[in-house]
Amino acid sequence: ALPICSRRQNVFRGKSAWTGKKPMNNANKKREHWATRAGFVLATAGSAVGLGNIWRFPYMTGEHGGAAFILIYLVAVLLLGYPLVVNEMALGRAAQRDPVGVFKVLAPNSPWWLVGALGVFTGFIILSYYAVVAGWSLAYVYKVVVATVVPGIDHARVFQDHISSVWEPILWQALFLILTVGIIAAGVVKGIQRWSMVLMPVLFVLLLVLIVRSVTLPGAGEGLAYYLRPDFSKVTGRTLLAALAQAFFSLSLGMGAIMTYGSYLDDKDEIPSNAMMVGGLDTGVALLAGFALFPAIFALGFEPGAGPGLAFITLPAVFAQMPLGAFFGVLFFILLGIAALTSAISLLEVVTAWLMDEKDWSRKRAAVVMGLVIFIVGLPATLGYSVLKDFSFPGLNKDLLDTYDWVSNSIFLPVGGFMMAIFTGYVWGAKHAIAEVNKGHKRFMIGQGWALLIRYVVPVLIFFIIVVGIYDTFFR
Ligand code: PFF
Repeated sequence: ALPICSRRQNVFRGKSAWTGKKPMNNANKKREHWATRAGFVLATAGSAVGLGNIWRFPYMTGEHGGAAFILIYLVAVLLLGYPLVVNEMALGRAAQRDPVGVFKVLAPNSPWWLVGALGVFTGFIILSYYAVVAGWSLAYVYKVVVATVVPGIDHARVFQDHISSVWEPILWQALFLILTVGIIAAGVVKGIQRWSMVLMPVLFVLLLVLIVRSVTLPGAGEGLAYYLRPDFSKVTGRTLLAALAQAFFSLSLGMGAIMTYGSYLDDKDEIPSNAMMVGGLDTGVALLAGFALFPAIFALGFEPGAGPGLAFITLPAVFAQMPLGAFFGVLFFILLGIAALTSAISLLEVVTAWLMDEKDWSRKRAAVVMGLVIFIVGLPATLGYSVLKDFSFPGLNKDLLDTYDWVSNSIFLPVGGFMMAIFTGYVWGAKHAIAEVNKGHKRFMIGQGWALLIRYVVPVLIFFIIVVGIYDTFFR
């Protein structure tokens, strides 16, 4: 037995801190891994494609000048988004741990785990208000029927009545979280992967049906023109920050969701091409959502840029004018609900993985307890439209849900992404990261270009945009 023993020791001594995948907790439990490549890609695309694409992207585009915003957004995705998706996948796979554990494994005895902790906390906050909007979508699967068949109904009123009715939105929010908890409790393969494989194809089909309907309406051309013709006069520091925030939110970046999903990857899985598919699907769905919405909005004589109410006020009004509108309305809100669910599970998985890996909780217990806590943390966001409707933080001039959204997406996610880039570029080392990313490659590899982006371009751009954006938000 002696020689074997000493050989083991050599192996351990020979490894640098970052490859030492010595699990600290859960040492004897086997980590789940994705069963198939498609499972990983669809689950991760499911995380990325969500309310951010179908609810938030169109109204941000409407508020920030149409195509000009889209161009800036595309640059943000290519220059910052894709490199950071690759980065998070590599960090997660290298460490085989939750976001806090990733930094404990790769930089032991340092304060870097705080970056993971910020991520877990942000996941918490995002899911708490995400479930509120997702709850509205579920309620609207039937409310839209009423809203489209009753002649002359005031759509803004319907929405206002719904969100200010205290109990109803809370019940839908709770139901949505129960679905999310149920999937997460079932595990990575039997829960996340299985449901992503079913729901994502349905989502693509629904979206295509809605696009065909929208672009074939008489008068759709005006909406297409608005969507595709840039107006740079509306671009300010705020626009840049909004595009950056949107890129982070939409790609699920900066809080360890991609990292957590990456931690269920094997060494033989490819990172660069899978990251491309995820980024491509996410951006594609966001752009397509614009094609589903804007032509219909203009064709039926409405204005875009109605803020978060775009999907819930403008669209029902649009459906009401359309032949078979109730039918298309129901499809739309099912689409929104599905998109939200596959994203919410990734948010809950981050928190669940943290409790399992760092605190030795069972999956079921972590999912149920956190689902409950997140429900409670989300209550002020729901009640911000009823009981707490007069409350707003000084200087922000936003309702509570918008405040949760603004803080997490404009501040926490970019700061998280910034720190993760610095960590890889200067602490873990771009060399180690590149070796990790290229393991298991079959199609293409990444190289020095990626290292340059992660070390210089990503941190500098994020820093600059956060500073300009905050200045614009508070001091103009
Ligand atoms: N990417 C999701 C969306 O676009 O709706 C939101 C999201 C999911 C953000 C998961 C962050 C995250 F970790």
